[in-house]
Amino acid sequence: MSLTKEQTLELIDKAFDMLAYSYTPYSHFKVGAALLAKDGTVYGGCNIENAAYTPCNCAERTAFFKAVSEGVKDFDAIAVVGGMEGEITSICAPCGVCRQVMMEFCDPERFQVISAKSKEEYRVQTLKELLPDGFGPADLGKA
Ligand code: THU
Repeated sequence: MSLTKEQTLELIDKAFDMLAYSYTPYSHFKVGAALLAKDGTVYGGCNIENAAYTPCNCAERTAFFKAVSEGVKDFDAIAVVGGMEGEITSICAPCGVCRQVMMEFCDPERFQVISAKSKEEYRVQTLKELLPDGFGPADLGKA
């Protein structure tokens, strides 16, 4: 699907709102995400760090896991913003692990990833652009 400008800006706004909840005592790099489900619900997410480091969870995955844990598995788009101490000075693209989680639930040719610096400066890419030749459920005959 292609998002309207209004939808895009709403998702960016929500991703910025989520920065307030980001828990980053270690990296101080705050990330906010807003995931749009096909039913119109928007799931916010923030990164959540941990003293043991490995259990750190990215903002994008927090948003996905919130939705999936409530039975929602169909998505259209996600917006992501991130920066040191919550100061957004450049575009923040999803990490490789989060791209793989998106691959599990989203059609790579249709799912839109909005990586934003502001409501004026952002990039919209499909998951396929971010994860070409991605391995997903279809490779196990599950799509
Ligand atoms: N982080 C995210 O939340 N999303 C990304 O796509 C990139 C990285 C978080 C993980 C960690 O808490 C901090 O940013 C620094 O890597």
